[in-house]
Amino acid sequence: MATPKWIQNTMSPSDSPYLDLMKHDQLKQVRHFHQTFPMYQPTPLVSLPHMAQRLGVADIKVKDESYRFGLNAFKVLGGAYAIGQYIADRLHKPIEQISYDYLTSDDFKNNFQPTTFYTATDGNHGRGVAWAANQLGQRSVVRMPWGSTAYRADAIARENAEVTIEDMNYDACVRLAYEQSQADSNGVMVQDTAWEGYEDIPSWIMQGYGTIADEIMEQMPQPPSHIFAQAGVGSFAGSMVGAFALKYPENRPKMIVVEAEHCECLFLSAKNKQVTHVEGEMKTIMAGLACGEPNSVSWEILKTYTDVFMVVDDKTAEAGMRLLGAPLKGDDQIISGESGVAGFAAFVAIMTDPALKDLKQLLEIDEQSRILFVNTEGDTDPERYDQIVRQGISIEL
Ligand SMILES: Cc1ncc(COP(=O)(O)O)c(C=O)c1O
Repeated sequence: MATPKWIQNTMSPSDSPYLDLMKHDQLKQVRHFHQTFPMYQPTPLVSLPHMAQRLGVADIKVKDESYRFGLNAFKVLGGAYAIGQYIADRLHKPIEQISYDYLTSDDFKNNFQPTTFYTATDGNHGRGVAWAANQLGQRSVVRMPWGSTAYRADAIARENAEVTIEDMNYDACVRLAYEQSQADSNGVMVQDTAWEGYEDIPSWIMQGYGTIADEIMEQMPQPPSHIFAQAGVGSFAGSMVGAFALKYPENRPKMIVVEAEHCECLFLSAKNKQVTHVEGEMKTIMAGLACGEPNSVSWEILKTYTDVFMVVDDKTAEAGMRLLGAPLKGDDQIISGESGVAGFAAFVAIMTDPALKDLKQLLEIDEQSRILFVNTEGDTDPERYDQIVRQGISIEL
């Protein structure tokens, strides 16, 4: 297990209007939309008091998104909200008038031209989009990058999606899905990353993730002192960082963004002080984090409010999965997948690896600290989870 890389954020803050994307009233509106879904329930915020004591902090809380909508990951929140907003726009209705009941009604079917939603995915986002489209009687087309597992592709196909695993990386799959959506007169791209000229839908997706922050703020009235958020393109991290920075401007929690080794586009962007891409295969077991191009909207938020960018390797993630899967006596078990665990794994490294002493000091992590993580996925690939956690196998890609 290698010591994680890290870099302090020394970039100038942005003055982009996107800094306001995750305003509190916006979070409320998003959550209200999600609450109209019959399967909506807040996910648990789990305390790990024994782990906190062992690692030397006051409190560890894990928001467990493996319970989200029965889909084992948080991503559906973004896809469903973006589809809802897109439909609201097309029908010239405010989102407040768009509910699950309306979207599944005959009135809606009679007034809305059926649409095919296109996306590229490492797994979770595509499953969320396919699920939402299927629930609402629409079609979806999902492109997956090389290295995607058949289990994850099958889970998407079961949502009536047309799904393929392509011989290209994630960022190339995004371009492919975009081209295909443009060539289809009833096609719309629902991608969880933004680039110049494609910002509305990804912004809605980030806002969709805001339900997580809103639930946490309710479940945890005293704000955390530190938030660790894992990142691929950075949409999820940007939504968390943005929401908490706006909610607690006076005592903003310290924000740590964690990427997978070989995919550290945000870390490199922070280092170079300008958006930097990673290209090629991006070999990592953290499939959800295997993205080489930052979300241009989220980047404005991350460069403004992130304190430290970190990069963890596969072995560090595996160790984190085992710690959450086989908890200390008295703590609850958390089933955390390879990507879902990255933030927690980075924190454990800070608390146990003497080579990270300076980082611990810089972040002022001590016995008073209240640390927050989001377990963004459960065992979305159960076979691999079993190998890593129950059989103690270290995956070599
Ligand atoms: C489980 C999980 N966690 C975190 C992320 C990272 O999200 P983002 O790409 O918005 O940075 C993903 C992305 O697919 C994911 O699947």
